[in-house]
Amino acid sequence: MRIFTKTKAAVVGALLASTSMVQAADVEVLHWWTSGGEAAALNVLKQDLEGQSVGWQDMPVAGGGGEQAMTVLRARVTAGNPPTAVQALGFDILDWANQGALANLNDVAAKEGWDEVVPDALKAFAKADGKWVSAPVNVHSTNWVWANKAVLDANGIAQPTNWDEFVSAVEALKAAGVTPIAHGGQAWQDATVFDAVAMGALGPDGYKAAFIDLDSETLGSDAMKTAFDRMAFIRDNVDDNFSGRDWNLATAMVINGEAGFQMMGDWAKGEFLNAGKVPGEDFLCFRFPGTAEQVTFNADQFMMFDQGGEVSTEQAALASAILSPSFQSAFNVVKGSVPARTDVSDADFDACGKQGMKDLAAAASSGNLFGSMAHGHAAPASVKNAVYDVVTAHFNGEYDSETAVQELVDAVDIAK
Ligand code: BGC
Repeated sequence: MRIFTKTKAAVVGALLASTSMVQAADVEVLHWWTSGGEAAALNVLKQDLEGQSVGWQDMPVAGGGGEQAMTVLRARVTAGNPPTAVQALGFDILDWANQGALANLNDVAAKEGWDEVVPDALKAFAKADGKWVSAPVNVHSTNWVWANKAVLDANGIAQPTNWDEFVSAVEALKAAGVTPIAHGGQAWQDATVFDAVAMGALGPDGYKAAFIDLDSETLGSDAMKTAFDRMAFIRDNVDDNFSGRDWNLATAMVINGEAGFQMMGDWAKGEFLNAGKVPGEDFLCFRFPGTAEQVTFNADQFMMFDQGGEVSTEQAALASAILSPSFQSAFNVVKGSVPARTDVSDADFDACGKQGMKDLAAAASSGNLFGSMAHGHAAPASVKNAVYDVVTAHFNGEYDSETAVQELVDAVDIAK
């Protein structure tokens, strides 16, 4: 469902919705969960709150990665009318916290022991100056590949474990007349693929140096050129209509057997499940070749906007519902992500979910867990946007790999 396709329309819609419809005891929730799988997961949360007699005012703003949602949010805050709760990622949360815009959730967090069960990697974005300012919903990660099993089997292709095997698999699909890679040409999707490709080409130390420490030498390295060369290979193996396509339509191409692979975060799994597909039987999930040990994560959280000093009853109910262990399991089973608490059983999760939970724990303890650049967990929005611009321009043929490397060094240097 596309509620708003244009940012301007979204801003106007948001302002209208906010002035006319919200009841006192409702939570108004701004989010970008508008695909079939995302909406199914959101329903788990809506129903949970309805069970507690908290009304739900839905404020969806389509656009994967949340850029459009963040534009609507800025307009609402500027108009002096922020929504009650807002889906947000990483550095954006800290940005709003630093502006003093968020409510302090410490009472509910203390009562429910969030400090003991939420991993440090998420606390780094959920807490500012010792105050809980948002409620973590999940942990997603971006270095995944989704594959149509029947398509791979029909072409005698085994799950690729390194870049060279991936190249052979892609070439075999191309020779068989199948679109090798399903992709949507939107900046955030190009950048999502780049997370995984860069991790593979630079390795974990290089990824951290480039995208978290913003080290110019690593940004300008030969390994970075390799990453761009690999992006060019991927670009050569998408279909002609990739430009502007929404991510979930690219996932549908893999679901329907029109394409072999999609590189996308594990929200893609929500689409497979929503279409009645079973992991291991209909589709495969595996880490991007060469990144089996690493996890590039992003966590959806709901920040609560300060509504005049006190956390409202509805905000506290929403925060508490989000962190409850039963919700963390029920929601994330549908969403494709894994729980934001370390004490939730994997019993109800499918094979991909169980792998996601295992990978996350292993990566956290071996020093292989890194924030996703594409989804706002490696660097603040100014740097993220600079990376988006270069990656997208290169993907669309504006720069060769060597130029892209130089542009990346310069763009990050200016933005940081
Ligand atoms: C969010 C996911 C969402 C995806 C696509 C990501 O930034 O973390 O929850 O499903 O964007 O919309």
